[in-house]
Amino acid sequence: METTIYYFTGTGNSLAVARGLCEHLGDCRAVPIASLPDELGPVRPAAERVGIVSPVYFSGLPSIVAEVAASLDLSGAQYVFAACTFGGSGAAPSLRQLDRVLQEGAGRRGLDAGFAVRMPGNYIRLYDRLGDRALERTLASAARRVAAIAEAVDRGERTMPRFSPAGSLFHRLYYPRFIARVHRADEEFTVDDRCTRCGTCEKVCPVGNVRLEDGRPTWLHRCEQCMACIQVCPTGAIQAGPKTAARRRYRHPEVTVEALADRDSG
Ligand SMILES: Cc1cc2nc3c(=O)[nH]c(=O)nc-3n(C[C@H](O)[C@H](O)[C@H](O)COP(=O)(O)O)c2cc1C
Repeated sequence: METTIYYFTGTGNSLAVARGLCEHLGDCRAVPIASLPDELGPVRPAAERVGIVSPVYFSGLPSIVAEVAASLDLSGAQYVFAACTFGGSGAAPSLRQLDRVLQEGAGRRGLDAGFAVRMPGNYIRLYDRLGDRALERTLASAARRVAAIAEAVDRGERTMPRFSPAGSLFHRLYYPRFIARVHRADEEFTVDDRCTRCGTCEKVCPVGNVRLEDGRPTWLHRCEQCMACIQVCPTGAIQAGPKTAARRRYRHPEVTVEALADRDSG
């Protein structure tokens, strides 16, 4: 069965999941959500099976994922699934939000299944990267989880994670505040004198929010808060407030800078 997987990623976790699912499923294309046209009329994928892979942000969806999902018309698909990658708190509220957005959106067609994949957390504004051993363990267990999800998808399993009262409360308390400020939260981003003017930040930003001026990044206030510019800068020169300078950077080890920069094929 032909499958199209739409994904959004900042630091590669969700891309690694989209790719892993594609490898297991066969006849599958991974398409970056950010490559879909800005002026969205309904997008109607031709594939019989459609997946959406996204990180969890404040127990909800990245703003761009919610927007694009609303314009996806999946009414012609035989099977629709999603996988949300998360660092610690779980993915049930994000998957439920996605299901709701799809049901109310262009195709009035929700999810048949939603899956959660624990991955290394990348929200450097709040915490440091996992230590090496924990990182390795988390990635190995995520790879096993992806294989199990692919099998469930192949079986056409219908499942959603159980409602989580704590996750849902967190979503209601924090997600609206996050979304209200998300695009302008880059006002806190700064670049220090370790910047070598390499331009990596501009390349890896999935939404074209970085403009180089004299080789150094400036931000255009349509930020998704994906952390790619901060995490992937090879010298750690980009900061968000006073705490990030001392924290280690994270990018999924199997996802190259070039793959993050590729907005066409994934
Ligand atoms: C702005 C932001 C908010 C986040 N909020 C949550 C959260 O509420 N719960 C959670 O478990 N992980 C959270 N995370 C961690 C990411 O969901 C996780 O690391 C994800 O796998 C990153 O995917 P990516 O590498 O594809 O960008 C957050 C990350 C960012 C950048």
